[in-house]
Amino acid sequence: MTEKNAQLTIGDTTLELPIYSGTIGPDVVDVGQLTGNGMFTYDPGFVSTASCESKITYIDGGKGVLLHRGYPIDQLANESEHLEVCYLLIYGELPTPEQKEEFVSSIMNHTMVHDQLSSFYKGFRRDAHPMAIMCGVVGALSAFYHDSLDIADEKHREVAAYRLIAKMPTLAAMCYKYTQGQPFMYPRNDLNYAENFLHMMFGVPCEETKVNPIIAKAMDKIFILHADHEQNASTSTVRLAGSSGANPFACIAAGIAALWGPAHGGANEAVLKMLDEIGDVSNVDSFILRAKDKNDPFRLMGFGHRVYKNFDPRATVMRETCHEVLSELGINDPQLELAMKLEEIARSDSYFIERNLYPNVDFYSGIILKAIGIPTEMFTVIFALGRTPGWIAHWHEMISNPYKIGRPRQLYTGSEKRDFVPADKR
Ligand code: SDX
Repeated sequence: MTEKNAQLTIGDTTLELPIYSGTIGPDVVDVGQLTGNGMFTYDPGFVSTASCESKITYIDGGKGVLLHRGYPIDQLANESEHLEVCYLLIYGELPTPEQKEEFVSSIMNHTMVHDQLSSFYKGFRRDAHPMAIMCGVVGALSAFYHDSLDIADEKHREVAAYRLIAKMPTLAAMCYKYTQGQPFMYPRNDLNYAENFLHMMFGVPCEETKVNPIIAKAMDKIFILHADHEQNASTSTVRLAGSSGANPFACIAAGIAALWGPAHGGANEAVLKMLDEIGDVSNVDSFILRAKDKNDPFRLMGFGHRVYKNFDPRATVMRETCHEVLSELGINDPQLELAMKLEEIARSDSYFIERNLYPNVDFYSGIILKAIGIPTEMFTVIFALGRTPGWIAHWHEMISNPYKIGRPRQLYTGSEKRDFVPADKR
């Protein structure tokens, strides 16, 4: 990082704050001296805060650019495959054919989970939300895999990373099967990552599973489009949990919990519920009015983004994939028509234009997942599955370099010091 300085004058003190430049993107001001001068920065929601240095993903929100280790997301989505992108995110380079073969083989031979984990599911109600189950079972992995929890050991970190990438599809599919009252399907090592997931989701023990290769390719592309996204809320949660030295399984479980919110990864499920609520194109205008009304909590789900003030490049690929999958399946889904009409109307409305509100990754993903046969409440589980390599890459990047425990401060506006009042005097 190259260094320049910013001057900050507080009262009669002028501080020289270092400015660092990255490879691309905005410079940052190092405000570390402020605490020693009795002040903190104040930035609720971390809108203007860089929490760390990273080499994994770069987003240019104004231009709608998303790079993973320098490679544009549309190229990766259209020319790569999810496990290759997992390797890229973790190790920083695209694998050679030999490296890829070894990595894929390691992952695909660790897809089974400890058989006792199956009974763990039985503690949940059949109608539990799959994300509630995922929070529980992923955290519980640290109760099963004691042999890969020494985060100071590079080999342990790698084993834990491989186990998580390998087992998330199995755990996710088990959530679905459990809520359906169907038997769990064991993974198959002869299938690729996406085919194996679809087999575990929709296969039954009574017959050979036939996976549609077009659908499997679309599923793999959806995993790639969700793989990583810089310091989003769930990734920042994983980093913060990891900064205390918590084991990787607990950190990823924390990320899953953060992802669940409708403002974040829960938006894909919320988009389908919103389209159901809108029902017909004739109702779009009234919902657009509600989305603009400050007194109405309704938001246009799948629209807007903290960083993108242009098209989310993932949404563009997702929309193309949507058309491919629906035409491959011969489905004419009125919700796709409704979504496209909603996008067209919103994008021509000054409220959305002035605020640079565009469709994000969640706007079209749900329509594809529904076409594949995945129920709405499983959508965020799919997002968590796809995001696992990103969470792991950021955790690994932090843990394998010098780091400090994350501990933000605050602006305190509560009571000044006062003495306790006994109950009979209140
Ligand atoms: C993801 O961070 C990531 O990278 C996340 C993610 C990833 O891959 O990890 O990309 C995945 O979470 C995508 C976002 C999914 N969420 C949604 O689709 C939910 C709907 N979107 C909004 O909740 C909102 O846009 C956020 C939460 C995504 C972003 O909120 P910000 O950055 O805090 O922006 P804001 O709330 O300050 O909005 C700015 C203005 C406000 O209006 P004004 O106060 O200026 O008048 O835009 C308005 C907001 O009211 N606004 C919307 C809106 N989103 C923002 N108005 C109507 N509908 C919306 N969807």
